[in-house]
Amino acid sequence: MQIATHATQPIDGQKPGTSGLRKKTRVFMQPHYLENFVQSVFDGIGGVTGKTLVVGGDGRYFNDRAVQVILRMAAANGAAKVVVGQDGLLSTPAASNVIRKRATDGGIILSASHNPGGPDEDFGIKFNTPNGGPAPEEVTERIFVATTALTEYKILESTDIQLDTLGETSLGAMTVEVIDAVADYAALMADLFDFDAIRALFASGFTMRFDAMHAVTGPYAKAILEDTLGAPVGTVMNGVPSPTFGGGHPDPNPVWAHDLMDIMMADNAPHFGAASDGDGDRNMILGRGTYVTPSDSLALLAAKAHLAPGYADGLAGVARSMPTSAAVDRVAEALGIECFETPTGWKFFGSLLDAGRATLCGEESAGTGSNHVREKDGLWAVLLWLNILAATKQSVAELLKFHWAQYGRNYYSRHDYEGVDAGQAADMMAALRDKLPELPGQTISGITVTAADEFAYTDPVDGSVSSGQGLRILFEGGSRIVLRLSGTGTVGATLRVYLESYEPDPDRQSQDPQQALGPVISAAQALANITHYTGRNVPDVRT
Ligand code: G1P
Ligand code: ZN
Repeated sequence: MQIATHATQPIDGQKPGTSGLRKKTRVFMQPHYLENFVQSVFDGIGGVTGKTLVVGGDGRYFNDRAVQVILRMAAANGAAKVVVGQDGLLSTPAASNVIRKRATDGGIILSASHNPGGPDEDFGIKFNTPNGGPAPEEVTERIFVATTALTEYKILESTDIQLDTLGETSLGAMTVEVIDAVADYAALMADLFDFDAIRALFASGFTMRFDAMHAVTGPYAKAILEDTLGAPVGTVMNGVPSPTFGGGHPDPNPVWAHDLMDIMMADNAPHFGAASDGDGDRNMILGRGTYVTPSDSLALLAAKAHLAPGYADGLAGVARSMPTSAAVDRVAEALGIECFETPTGWKFFGSLLDAGRATLCGEESAGTGSNHVREKDGLWAVLLWLNILAATKQSVAELLKFHWAQYGRNYYSRHDYEGVDAGQAADMMAALRDKLPELPGQTISGITVTAADEFAYTDPVDGSVSSGQGLRILFEGGSRIVLRLSGTGTVGATLRVYLESYEPDPDRQSQDPQQALGPVISAAQALANITHYTGRNVPDVRT
């Protein structure tokens, strides 16, 4: 087998965003595109000579081809070993676990998360560092700089490597170890949660539906929920991973997981419902007739995590992304633990988790996780909920009601405007940014601004600074508007408007969120002139 060195040129736009490099699949399929980026990852992390890497992806279209290219490039670049999930599959949290458990030098995860898959849909690739977490900005910047100066890449000339059989093979001088994608992860979950209590819950007739959305968590959910915990066969729906996610949009929210929503909102619905996304790091939580917002889920999990054996000693602290509602802040205050507010994206939680400052983290975008890995983890959140349901014997609706009665309710919604003209979106943000200093004291749609700024974050552990992380306008009484542009979109700009208000009175905690948020929604429209800049009267997605 020969190592070929191909001359190449830098390709524009290979800048990793919120979660690695995401582009249309056909862009990745262009000659040299993937190879250029992979070589830049290797160069950006100081080469891979003698290193061990983990590789796997969510099984979307082009996953199989990309894994083969990465293996051959790793071999040509002198890597000692690559650990790869069977058939090239690994959920994002499972990859994070393997990277950590085997003390490797990091890993490459292939996924565009909750974005659809297929030749005309999205593909993505990201590098995770040896702590198992997404590369921090300083590393992604080095990778990006490498993409702009690349002159050649190295690849081993070989036929495809068999990835369907477990065990070790050689690729040139490199070892390829194909592992069971589920086993290590399932063992970790068994350590954290009271599987006997959950087993007893299912045995008592408790019913659940888990929608894997034709994505990577199907095999994980079947192995853990059905085979280990005794949930009836059929509990997991859409459980076979497909390269196009069955033609769907593997995003676990009420809009895209509508089949599950219909089941859970019907008469005689199961007791519990959940869904996970393309690569298994996001989750949606439902009870019979009840939708739990991700922000509320984080708060409730923080309040009750001690009921699970893995968290019985309590939490060191909690962290949430800035746009996530302040519900968890109230729990942290009651528990007397630290609460951190970070920019959007899981990578900012890594240093807090590594330093032992935070145990639980979460984002409003359906991401929740803990210090067990360095990624958010959909199935983990589902299992922690199950553990809490088993320990309290309360329903999801009761748990939520009692939680709000104790801490107050943070009404919350996110409005997305997708595929907006990038120039118009930038103009809108610039115009609002200019207005921020004059807003405090003004009353808009009946609510008074107390503060307005552009969010910047100084990491309390390593001192790194991230600026330009979203515009926020705070109002009296705990209401808030946040506006930011997505860093994961692949077409035009996606404007995200995050809306929140606080209701301490239990008698006023069962309103429709869009209605309760009425004044905040009109204030956002008035302040940012959203219709003018986007040309839309209504958002494309409301979560
Ligand atoms: C989105 C979410 C963010 C999440 C990221 C990766 O990023 O908003 O919370 O960490 O996907 O899953 P955005 O498109 O807003 O930049
Ligand atoms: Zn994801």
